[in-house]
Amino acid sequence: PTLIVTSASGDERTIAVGDGLTLMEAIRDNGFDELLALCGGCCSCATCHVHIEPDFLPLLPPMSRDEDDLLDSSDTRDATSRLSCQIPLTEEMDGLRVRIAEID
Ligand code: FES
Repeated sequence: PTLIVTSASGDERTIAVGDGLTLMEAIRDNGFDELLALCGGCCSCATCHVHIEPDFLPLLPPMSRDEDDLLDSSDTRDATSRLSCQIPLTEEMDGLRVRIAEID
């Protein structure tokens, strides 16, 4: 799918990524170093926090209890927050807009 990624500082870029990656891997692989993803995708750090454009939220897999608990540790959590390592990309997500959360 094609994704439209906005950095925390507001730079927007369109990236094309293969299936089978997580949203976290897709963002990292395209040079957005500010997405720290310190735990490497194990759902234990919350440094892969992103905001998803609301229209796309229903296309994402439901949030696990662990993801929900981890997101609670972030001051910038809102209704559009997800951990990007918990989102495997699919073709239906084509055009997804995502913004990297500010580090708090
Ligand atoms: Fe650590 Fe997603 S990379 S929770």
